[in-house]
Amino acid sequence: MQLIDGKKLSETIKEEIADEVGLIKKQDGKVPHLAAVLVGDDPASQAYVRNKVRSCDQVGFESTLIKKDSSITQEELLEIVEDLNSNDDIDGFIVQLPLPKHIDESLVTLKIDPTKDVDGFHPINFGRMAQGLPSYLPATPYGILQMLERYKIETSGMHCVVIGRSNIVGTPISILLSRKASPGNCTVTITHSRTRDLSSEVSRADIIIAAIGIPHFVTADMVKEGAVVIDVGINRMEDETRKRGYRLVGDVDFDQVAPRCSFITPVPGGVGPMTVTSLMLNTLKASRREIYG
Ligand code: GUN
Repeated sequence: MQLIDGKKLSETIKEEIADEVGLIKKQDGKVPHLAAVLVGDDPASQAYVRNKVRSCDQVGFESTLIKKDSSITQEELLEIVEDLNSNDDIDGFIVQLPLPKHIDESLVTLKIDPTKDVDGFHPINFGRMAQGLPSYLPATPYGILQMLERYKIETSGMHCVVIGRSNIVGTPISILLSRKASPGNCTVTITHSRTRDLSSEVSRADIIIAAIGIPHFVTADMVKEGAVVIDVGINRMEDETRKRGYRLVGDVDFDQVAPRCSFITPVPGGVGPMTVTSLMLNTLKASRREIYG
C-alpha cells in the first residue's frame, strides 16, 4: 500500500508556483491577485478561507479577503460580485459556500464573471469542462487529477466508482475521469443515496472516489484488493482527547481499508491540501489569461 501524500505534493506544487511568481516579478509583471468573499461565521468556512489566504502568501500572490456579516442582503452581495468582476486588479475570486439561507447560491454563482471564476462553479466553466474545452476546473476534482497524474496511477480502462453526486466534486470528477484524456478514459459509475446495493457497486471498483460526507462510510468489505482509494471527506468527529474537541475523519474507514489498497489518500493530509493548491493554479491561469485569452 502506498500513501498518496497530498500535503507533500501540494507543497511541491506551491513551490513550483512560487518559482513562476518569482519569474513574473523579475519581468516586472503583475503578481496574481485572488479575492475571497466570506459571509457569516461558519467555523469550517473560516478555516478554509484562512487556508486560501495563507496559501496565497506562501506562493507570493496578492490576496484580498472581504468578510461580511451573515445579515448581508443578496443585493449587497451581488454588488460585491459586480465590483470584483469589474476590478481589473483582481484576476480571480471566490465566494465561499455555503451562503446563508436567504441568499440564492446559484444566482450568486451565475453573476460571477466566468473569466474570473477560479472555483470553476459557473455553468459556463462547467459546460466547457464537460465538452473538453479549456476551463477552470473545480478545485477538488482538479486536485484529484493531479494526484493521479503525479503518482503515475493508471486510469485508462479502469472502473471508477464515485460515491456522491455533488456539483463541486462527484459530478465533475465523474465527467473528468470519463473524458478521453490522461488521467481519464475510465468507465465511471456514479453512486448516491438512492443507489441500490451501493456496497456491491463499490466492490467492483478499481478506483473509488468517496465524496459523500459521511464519516467512515467506506468499509473494508466494500473495497476490492488492490483498489485505489481517494477520500474526499472532511468530517468533524467529536474527540474529547483533542484540545479543539474534535478530529477530522474521512468518508473512508482508513485503518480497515488501507491494507487492501494499492494507493490511498489520508485525511487530513490528502485531498484537502490539494484543493487549495488547485485554486492557486487556477489563479495563476487567470492572471495569465490562459483559459479565455
Ligand atoms: N465550500 C466548500 N468547498 C468550496 C470551494 O471549493 N469553493 C467555495 N467557494 N466554497 C466551498
